[in-house]
Amino acid sequence: MIQEVQRTAQASLLSWLDHPSIELKDAVSNMIFSVTAKKLISYDSSTSNEEMRKHYDAFIRGLVAFPLYIPGTAFYKCMQGRRSVMKMLKELLNERAKATHRRENIDFIDVLIQELEKDTMSENAALDLLFLLLFASFETTSSAITAVLWFLTDNPKALQELTEEHDYIRKRKVDPKSEITWEEYKSMKFTSHVIHEALRLANIAPVMFRKATEDVRIKGYAIPKGSKIMICPSTVHLNPVVYKHPSIFNPWRWKNTDEPAGGASKDFMAFGGGLRLCVGADFAKLQMAIFLHCLVTKYRWKMIKGGTMVLSPALRFPQGFHIQLLPKEG
Ligand code: HEM
Repeated sequence: MIQEVQRTAQASLLSWLDHPSIELKDAVSNMIFSVTAKKLISYDSSTSNEEMRKHYDAFIRGLVAFPLYIPGTAFYKCMQGRRSVMKMLKELLNERAKATHRRENIDFIDVLIQELEKDTMSENAALDLLFLLLFASFETTSSAITAVLWFLTDNPKALQELTEEHDYIRKRKVDPKSEITWEEYKSMKFTSHVIHEALRLANIAPVMFRKATEDVRIKGYAIPKGSKIMICPSTVHLNPVVYKHPSIFNPWRWKNTDEPAGGASKDFMAFGGGLRLCVGADFAKLQMAIFLHCLVTKYRWKMIKGGTMVLSPALRFPQGFHIQLLPKEG
């Protein structure tokens, strides 16, 4: 998918040039949605209306809200948003299941339909999976990319080293227009440090839940069977014993520390861990690295307004993060 990710990033960045200001999180969400929704449901951003994205937005805004199911509340809008997306996905699934002609490009719905025909999955489970994958694929990565740019805006040294890494990759290409190769992606070491450092501080998934399936004794505490446990990754990510000066954005700290193999360790849980480790971790990191390559080799940016980043409890930019994209000089 490297080529698709790169082409979408290039096209999106080019389209942002015409605007005096763009809200980065929205713009990146649209960019990512157009890649992943195409794979999952053959969504075509040029012909589809924006309805599904709007319902997802309502869902996201009330995701961590007081559960008051009364019209007007964030929680109510969130539930309505989910209901509307589920309805659209159900219609799509039924329409496809009825279709008689074979489609040339198979997407994830086609795979689900095969599973439904084999009776290995219920329709509700299939719809839930579609809903989750669509959501997980664009909401998290767009927050992560916005957070990276937010940190880089205030860290010219990090931005310079990142730019040097990507300029070096570009200059070594025999054909400067050729697409990024897997080897080039794997050589982006400093980029990977920047991504890990931004994810450590941004804590995009603020909490995770587990249930104790048996009595557990840990560090003198007894957790009785059946307890619900809330895991809070920021307690590890901001622990000064593990990370010196934890609130400072310091991508160089990863130079001497092994980045967690497989995406997680007991000191790094941005992608969760254990059996439920994020299945999209590698894809998300790849999307971020390629976006950064396309960005820093051709463009620079200027912050226009907003830019306050808060964790409440999830990562949010209450006034947005508005930037102007400009071509790089020289
Ligand atoms: C920077 C981007 C991302 C972050 C920070 C992130 C974070 C996480 C975290 C923390 C979990 C674990 C939740 C838990 O343990 O309860 C998770 C699970 C999951 N993620 Fe991601 N994610 C990202 C990108 C993606 C992408 C791009 C996809 C899909 C293409 C994806 C799909 C999933 C799925 C399906 C699960 C559930 C896995 C399971 O329960 O077995 N994520 N993610």
